[in-house]
Amino acid sequence: MNPSANSPAALARPVGPAPAVGGRRPWIDHWLETVRDLQDLKDSHPMMDAVIDEIDGRMIRIGDHWLADFASCNYLGFDLDAEIIEAVPEYLRTWGTHPSWSRLLGSPALYEEIEERLTDLLGCEDTLLLPTITHIHMSVIPLLAASGTVFMDARAHKTIYDGCQVARARGAAVKRFRFEDPDHLDELLRAERDPTRLVVMDGVNSMTGNAPDIRAFAAVAREHGALLYVDDAHGFGIVGERTPDETSPYGSRGNSVIRHAGESYDNVVLVGGFSKAYSSLLAFVACPTDVKELLKVAAPPYLYSGPSPVASLATVLAGFDVNERRGDQLRATVYRHTRRILDRLTCHGVLTPNRSGFPIIEVPLRDHRRIADVGRFLFDRGVYVTLAAFPLVPKHEVGFRFQVTAANTDAEVDAAIAGIDALAERGELRLITDDLPAAGPAV
Ligand SMILES: Cc1ncc(COP(=O)(O)O)c(C=O)c1O
Repeated sequence: MNPSANSPAALARPVGPAPAVGGRRPWIDHWLETVRDLQDLKDSHPMMDAVIDEIDGRMIRIGDHWLADFASCNYLGFDLDAEIIEAVPEYLRTWGTHPSWSRLLGSPALYEEIEERLTDLLGCEDTLLLPTITHIHMSVIPLLAASGTVFMDARAHKTIYDGCQVARARGAAVKRFRFEDPDHLDELLRAERDPTRLVVMDGVNSMTGNAPDIRAFAAVAREHGALLYVDDAHGFGIVGERTPDETSPYGSRGNSVIRHAGESYDNVVLVGGFSKAYSSLLAFVACPTDVKELLKVAAPPYLYSGPSPVASLATVLAGFDVNERRGDQLRATVYRHTRRILDRLTCHGVLTPNRSGFPIIEVPLRDHRRIADVGRFLFDRGVYVTLAAFPLVPKHEVGFRFQVTAANTDAEVDAAIAGIDALAERGELRLITDDLPAAGPAV
């Protein structure tokens, strides 16, 4: 689930930790009340907090119920790829299961190999690997922000928001610019006196499935001497550089949103992860070498955190090979499946924020109170989706989300489409013509 920074859950504040009185824990009661809708859904709904008993390809079994999974972010299907799975045991025999040094203390040579290949794939100056994007945001945003000003996308991912909160606690100021609005960023930067400026935002957005206008944001950031920091968790592996022979509008090679936009890395720091398209626990910062060297001594996860398991380093390396040989075919499959779902929504006049054709398709409901019933309806028809419930998203965006992967079959996409048909017929889905607030709230 990907709550945005301005969701009510993100903005809610506890009244302050209070001691237990007579067995009551008021701070827990306060939080439970704040997230009551989600808590009720979690307790009652088979698509929340579910235990997956078994998988068969992209089919999953929960209890005795088999469902087509559209909630996984394994976009390229590398989690199930025989070539990648078969590559792992040799690495385990050579390196053991887990390095267990922090990277500063000892990095298996696999890290160097991955950084080299990744730098080449992205076409950037250098890269640094850390276990997760969350580790990166929490440590790198405060370092880059120093005591300057951070300009944060109003709908930035919660983990970016949390990184900004740490930066604020260390003396930075944090200002928000309107989602997808480079002109508003320009306005704020123009009025700014602080010479240290960091702009933080998402690449391919985890809720809308769209990419920002990277060229416009990069131009504004450069004009005002700001560093642009982009989290492309969902774009890396899917979108890439444009080529005449590309197999889909995603572009080629899956080398992320900066290359997809034809942008350079001047004044741009790109953050991405392998935990989605590459199905591996690892993440990266693409940055100049002097910044990398600084991070090696100043970013706590490099110094103190446990590393990624060897199996994850192995699946990244094997994943690079598969990406090179078959990645563009896999991306074409992802696009074809995604297109079928999007076309069906269009056929019914159903609203989705997805304008890009990228494989994240959010479908808002007409009535947010129907979320549990709609989820149950899809569950009963064997379709597993991500429920986007209040307070993770504002009430007018409550709905469900398909994430489409190369490992989904045509029959699974048929099941998703049958679910859409039935829900559209029952009038559960918001239509393009409905007179309701548009997705993407202002600051
Ligand atoms: C945009 C975005 N950033 C960061 C994360 C967190 O990534 P990680 O699991 O590598 O910390 C997610 C996970 O869903 C995400 O969607």
